[in-house]
Amino acid sequence: MKLLQGKPAADKLLAEVAAYARHHTLRLGIVRVGEHEPSRIYVRRKLEAAQRVGIAAQEIHLPQTTKTEEVLSVVKALGMDPAYTALIVQLPLPAGVDEAAVLDAIPPEKDADGLHPYNLGLLAQGRAEWVAATPWGIVELLRYYGISVAGKHVVVLGRGRLVGTPLSILLSRHAPYGQATVTLCHSQTPNLYDFTRQAEVLVSAVGKPHWLPAEAVSEGVVLVDVGIHRVDGRLVGDIHPAALEKASAATPVPGGVGPLTVAALLWNVMVIHRHRLRVGVS
Ligand SMILES: NC(=O)c1ccc[n+]([C@@H]2O[C@H](COP(=O)([O-])OP(=O)(O)OC[C@H]3O[C@@H](n4cnc5c(N)ncnc54)[C@H](OP(=O)(O)O)[C@@H]3O)[C@@H](O)[C@H]2O)c1
Repeated sequence: MKLLQGKPAADKLLAEVAAYARHHTLRLGIVRVGEHEPSRIYVRRKLEAAQRVGIAAQEIHLPQTTKTEEVLSVVKALGMDPAYTALIVQLPLPAGVDEAAVLDAIPPEKDADGLHPYNLGLLAQGRAEWVAATPWGIVELLRYYGISVAGKHVVVLGRGRLVGTPLSILLSRHAPYGQATVTLCHSQTPNLYDFTRQAEVLVSAVGKPHWLPAEAVSEGVVLVDVGIHRVDGRLVGDIHPAALEKASAATPVPGGVGPLTVAALLWNVMVIHRHRLRVGVS
């Protein structure tokens, strides 16, 4: 089984971003609300990677008790500030903060996570210049290892707004990285393994540690594990290690999709800057 390590693929993207950032000033704002520990770690990784490639990234951390209106006013102020090329709001937000309202307040032309309804609409129409970081990172990871999904049956597990839904659209697009036949499964899919066993490429974005067993997959499948969970002090994915033994290729957890998520976000900042130069707003 070939391990699809994320680092070399991520480094390739980051090298291109670094070369671009040598000639342009890029600034990313990251809004984090509350004390969700994984979010703190993810944001730290994003800040460190941004610094390495020459993007000025700044975290705006708001307390757990912040109300929707206050988050909205911070996001709107960053959106209007010409110093910021792009911005993201780290999810999840604390319970009680209206996530949809906050994401809608990010100007679409600065939305580096590609989660604004306008950008999701462009994605659905095959017109997006940048898309959500994790799905785009998965595309780049497969491309780096020469794994084409064209003409293949890809099964995506999970229809989350962050990963499963945009990925299913992306891989089925009439585009060089797409052309797959995609089945999108979720918690209401009956006889799930009837679908997973048909997969030539199987992506799990469900969020349950080691929940997909070996019996659910066929020999030779390519496995992409998006899940990341801390269990007894170790990081594990959605897919049980026994399933990996049947795969022809598989992403490790940690070190598979995770590095690509960070690299694809910074890639998006570069693409947004290019876009803004072209339309004359940078
Ligand atoms: N590695 C990385 O860089 C990275 C980046 C982003 C996210 N993640 C991880 O990826 C996972 C997914 O993220 P997300 O935000 O898209 O999650 P999400 O919005 O919570 O979506 C989870 C999906 O899993 C489905 N699901 C739950 N139980 C299921 C079951 N037994 N069988 C089939 N489907 C089931 C849910 O179905 P329903 O819609 O029917 O409820 C839902 O569509 C999370 O664990 C997250 O931490 C990792």
